[in-house]
Order: sequence, then structure tokens, then C-alpha cells
Amino acid sequence: MCGIFAYLNYHVPRTRREILEVLIKGLQRLEYRGYDSAGVGIDGGNSKDWESNAKSIQLIKQSGKVKALDEEIHKQQDIDLDVEFDVHLGIAHTRWATHGVPSPVNSHPHRSDKHNEFIVIHNGIITNYKDLRKFLESKGYEFESETDTESIAKLVKYMYDNRDNDEISFATLVEQVTQQLEGAFALVFKSVHYPGEAVGTRRGSPLLMGVKSDHKLSADHIPILYRSAGKDKKSCGGPLNRMDQDTCLFPVDEKAVEYYFASDASAVIEHTNQVIFLEDDDIAAVSEGRLSIHRIKRRVGDHPARAIQTLQMELQQIMKGNFSSFMQKEIFEQPESVVNTMRGRVNFEDNTVTLGGLKDHIKEIQRCRRLILIACGTSYHAGVATRQVLEELTELPVMVELASDFLDRNTPVFRDDVCFFISQSGETADSLMALRYCKERGALTVGITNTVGSSISRETDCGVHINAGPEIGVASTKAYTSQFVALIMFALLMCSDRISMQPRRREIIQGLKVLPDLIKDVLSLDEEIQKLATELYQQKSVLIMGRGYHYATCLEGALKIKEITYMHSEGILAGELKHGPLALVDKLMPVIMIIMRDHTYIKCQNALQQVVARQGRPIVICDKDDYETIKSSSRTIKVPHCVDCLQGVLSVIPLQLLSFHLAVLRGFDVDCPRNLAKSVTVE
Ligand code: UD1
Ligand code: BG6
Repeated sequence: MCGIFAYLNYHVPRTRREILEVLIKGLQRLEYRGYDSAGVGIDGGNSKDWESNAKSIQLIKQSGKVKALDEEIHKQQDIDLDVEFDVHLGIAHTRWATHGVPSPVNSHPHRSDKHNEFIVIHNGIITNYKDLRKFLESKGYEFESETDTESIAKLVKYMYDNRDNDEISFATLVEQVTQQLEGAFALVFKSVHYPGEAVGTRRGSPLLMGVKSDHKLSADHIPILYRSAGKDKKSCGGPLNRMDQDTCLFPVDEKAVEYYFASDASAVIEHTNQVIFLEDDDIAAVSEGRLSIHRIKRRVGDHPARAIQTLQMELQQIMKGNFSSFMQKEIFEQPESVVNTMRGRVNFEDNTVTLGGLKDHIKEIQRCRRLILIACGTSYHAGVATRQVLEELTELPVMVELASDFLDRNTPVFRDDVCFFISQSGETADSLMALRYCKERGALTVGITNTVGSSISRETDCGVHINAGPEIGVASTKAYTSQFVALIMFALLMCSDRISMQPRRREIIQGLKVLPDLIKDVLSLDEEIQKLATELYQQKSVLIMGRGYHYATCLEGALKIKEITYMHSEGILAGELKHGPLALVDKLMPVIMIIMRDHTYIKCQNALQQVVARQGRPIVICDKDDYETIKSSSRTIKVPHCVDCLQGVLSVIPLQLLSFHLAVLRGFDVDCPRNLAKSVTVE
């Protein structure tokens, strides 16, 4: 996940070396979020006068670790690290690629032009950047990167170049920019036209500010300033507004103050625990050491001010939020991560799906004879989970293959096959080798990956980035649900022109719309599942049974339990029960069954009866309105109802939570299970 950090010192003299140290340290504090490149933007001049130094901006960007960026900084010949700045704004960023591969030019800060008049750092995704880019290119602005962010840097310069008033404030300029942006963002801007000033804003991505001063601050809250009738008034700083003492935050003696912007508190906490959490559409501007917060429109229920809060948290606590491990954090991120997978792709108003990554190949895919989904581990389960709906909506034969076995068998592959490679990391050796194998045989290859710039993303003919954000816990959770959603979107795309399928498509798309809220409902079962874990954690084995759409959930749930609890666990197709696994069932064997109200319901009920008849006392994951199952089972986990083919997104979450709690109770390292690696890059 990208990380934002910016530091403004006002009448607090700092050498450039000190400023860069603060910026690098800030980025290091954000490293845990995962990233693939990093960059900083600072004032460029080497004179003794900070204002003249602020007339140029220097950008230093590097792929790879923050350490590599630090080394790159120290290689710069033309910057004097000992120059002192009385006032300075430095901005810094760690990037997790979503637009264009990891490279220095795609890293942030992005710039408006080759003179670096405006620079910007960005977290989130701008969904209308192609339109913005087209417009700006038509006005002569030249782009250098593949990113969505660059269009913001160009747009702010466009607004500045076309300003109708020379007094226009930096905040107003940014306000004009954000009105043109669609998608999600947290942004911090710096400009040679506004020396020593900073503007930060957010919509949908978090951004907070830290304030540090040895002097008393003017207030413990900042009133919101609303813009009236397009007039650029009431911003702090600037000769016109200096008298407006009630609208800004500043040290009362108007002297030294330091401000920080960050995408999470971990980067700020070592400097100050005085923070302001910005809200969507807030524009926070620092000018002449004064902080003001602006909004364009007043809405009913708006809070009239932003309070300065005192953070009591320790660094470690902030990094993982209220979570004890990354896996737990990632499980709880799923309401947002599935939204990010769908962002800009599913239109719930007109029930359409757009996958930009497939648009040039979709006709060819529609003409194919067979779909082959190839993957390892959890990613393989995402293929199993969506196979049925793919068969239904594409009316094509669909094979789901474990990459290693697919290669062992020298599976016949033909030119009219379309082969999907599902991989969170995009680097899994077996999946990558299977990709090369299929390419050699002339099949069209499609990637479903979470990692832009990864080998699978690069080597496939086309594909879909699932945009779930970096996954750090070795046991995959949010990537699974996002892969699931991405494959569903593909299935929907494949039948968008089939008139007979429209009612079904609409049903599924409307199901996708409510999915994030339903995921939240399932996550609210956490306490109940934790209690269940306390009853199970000393067991040696857990069987998980289900069929149809939920067979994949059984496999995935059992894999989660194996991976992090080291208990034996098996996912069993309920239809196979009589053919062997039933022999394992007795009154001692823990059994979890998944029974949902779909076309397999009666068969699942039969399986339940068979287990009960062998004195088994299964824990049943079922629909919260399925009173029959609830009544007849001794223990149930009740999940909300969703469209049958999406129900698997909900049924897997109790098992993710269960495996997590079992591992904690058994005293194991949840994020780094023994013998396993996040990315298996060897055969
Ligand atoms: C692209 C942007 C996305 C933005 C959207 C707005 C990138 C990486 N993505 O997304 O951030 O919100 O436009 O219009 O710039 N690809 C593969 N193999 C894979 C995955 C992807 O070849 O495994 C290719 C795709 O075919 C495509 C490119 O990578 O050419 C980007 O894919 P994706 O991010 O899914 O495309 P969009 O959804 O259009
Ligand atoms: C590893 C991981 O085994 O690779 C699993 O530990 C993952 O969590 C599997 O499912 C496949 O990885 P990827 O990156 O190809 O999805």
C-alpha cells in the first residue's frame, strides 16, 4: 500500500541533511505497509536564503527499498546537505504500483513539468485519469510516466496557468483540482510558486496531520472554512487574511512550528502525538506557519471543526492498528479490498462491467474453446470457487489446475485455449513455468494478479490486477476474496451481450454491490468465532465439509488451518463422504459443515444427517435465515444471505477468523508460519 509522509518546518532551522533524515525515517515507518519504490521532493537551491532555495524543487526517486533511495540521495552531487532552511517543505512517498510498473519515473512525487513547478504525492486510484490525461495532452502538457497520479500534477499546473486571479491561494488551486478527480485519494502538494507552503487533501484514502511546537498553540481545534461563491477568501496566510486569527492554528507567539502529513500515524508518532485526522474533502493548507482547513460545501451534519487529538498509542500498535497481526488486519480489510477490486470496473447503476486490462482481448477470449485456470495454494482455490459460475456464464468448459500437477502431466494445451494464471504475488515459480508452457503452445494467457510489474503480470498477454493492496501475512486472505471477485467480474463481462443472461447478470452485479456490507456483518461474528476457537484449539484435527460453491471454501479453510495452526485439517467434498471420509467421523472428531440455501441444500442436509448418525456434532456454517438447519444443529455460525455464486466470499471468512484465533491460542506466529514463504519463487 502506498505511504505518504511530508514534513514542514517553519522557523525551526534544519539542515537539508536533517530534513532528509526525517523524510527517510518517515518512509521507513511506512515500510510495513508494503511497497516497491520510493521518492522524495525537497527544495533545490544551495544558497543561504530559504526563499530563494524554494524557487526550485529537487526530486529523487528509486525503485526498491527506502534504503536504496537513501543511498541514491547520498550519491547526488549537486545538493549540499549542510545548507540550513528556516522554512522548508519536504514530501516523500512509498509506492505500491497500481498504474505502471515499479520504476523511478513511475514513483512519486510526480511533477507538473520538467521545471518541477508543482509536485504531488498520492495514495489511492484516480479512475478518470485517462480522460484527464487526454484533456491535458490536448492542451500541450507532456506526460512521462504510466501513472494516474501524474495527471494530478499536470492538472494543478493547468489550473495555475489558467488562474483568473494572481492572488489565488494554493488551497484554492488544490480545491479546483480535487473537483475534477474521481476515485480515491490522499494527496500532498508542494510548489515553487508557494514557497514554504503545503496543501494536503483526501477522499476515500486516509490522511492525518501532526503538529509540533514548543510554543502554545492558538487553539485545540481548527474551525472549517467554507468557500463562499467561488471567492478566494478566508484562507490563512497572505496579507489579506492575516487578521483572521480565529480560523487557523498557529503558535501564539507566531514563531516555531513543525507540521507533518502522513497516511498513517506510525510515521508521525515519534515526532508528536498531537494529530488531526482529516476527513473526506478536507483541504488542509499550511501557509506562513498557519494551518487552516477548507471545504467547498457545507453539508448537513458536518462537524464545524477538526480537533487536535492526543495519540496515546505505541508505534507497534499503530502499525497494525487494533490488530495483533497482519493476517488479522488483512482479514478485516476485506470490506475495503473487494471495493478496490471493483472500483471503476463495476457500474451498479447500469449493471455494466469494464475490465480495462481485457478490453483488447475479450473478443478473442469469447471465441475460445476452453478456459484453463492455473494456480497454486489459495489462488488455486479462487479458481475452484468460481469455476461453476464461469461455466454457467461463459458456457465454456473450464478446467482448474494446480500448476505443479498441470506441468507434471504435460497437459495438452491448444491455440484456441485461454489460460488464466491466478497469483497474488505474480512470482510463484510453478505458475510462472506453467504460463511459459502455455505460451509456447500458442494459447492466449491472462493474469489475475495483485502485483503490478510482477513476472506473471508482465508475461501474460493481458489480465486483471485485483488491486487488493499488498498482503503481508503469509496465509492469504484478502487476495483470495479479491481474486474471487475479479473472476466473477470476468464471467460477467463474458456474457454482457447475452440477452438470456441479463437477469442473472443483474442479480450477481447487485449482489456485488452489497457484498462489502455483508462482509462487515460476517466480521462482526469475530467474538463468537474466537469462543469457538477456545473449544477447538487443543484438538489434533478438523474436517471441513461442503459441496457445490462451497467445496472451495472447505479447501481454503482447511489450508488456512494447516498453514498457521499446524493442526491437521482436510477440506472434504460432501458428495464424497460415503466414499471414504465418513470413516473418520465419530463423536470426538471436530467437523465443520457448510450448508447454504442453494441447489445443493438438500444434499448437504443429507450429509449432515449422515454425520449426526455417526455421533458427529458438526459446527454448521449456514444462512442466518435457515431456521431448519439452525434448529436441527447443535452449533451454527450464521452468515448473511447473498447470491449463490458470491456466497463463498462470505462462507470463507469465518474459517479465516477461526484459523487465526486457533493459531493465537496455540501460541504460533500468525504472520510467519514455520516452513512457509509468502512468495514461492522456486519449484
Ligand atoms: C488501469 C490501471 C488502473 C486504473 C484504470 C483506470 C494499471 C496497472 N492499472 O486499470 O490502476 O484505475 O486503468 O482506467 O495501470 N495485465 C496483464 N497481466 C496481468 C494483469 C494485468 O497483462 O496479470 C495488463 C492488462 O492487460 C492491462 C494492464 O496490465 O494492459 C493493466 O491492467 P489492470 O490494472 O487490470 O487494468 P485496468 O483495470 O484498466
Ligand atoms: C505460497 C503462499 O505458498 O504461495 C500461499 O504461502 C499462496 O499463501 C501460494 O496461496 C500461491 O501464491 P501466489 O502468490 O501465486 O498467489
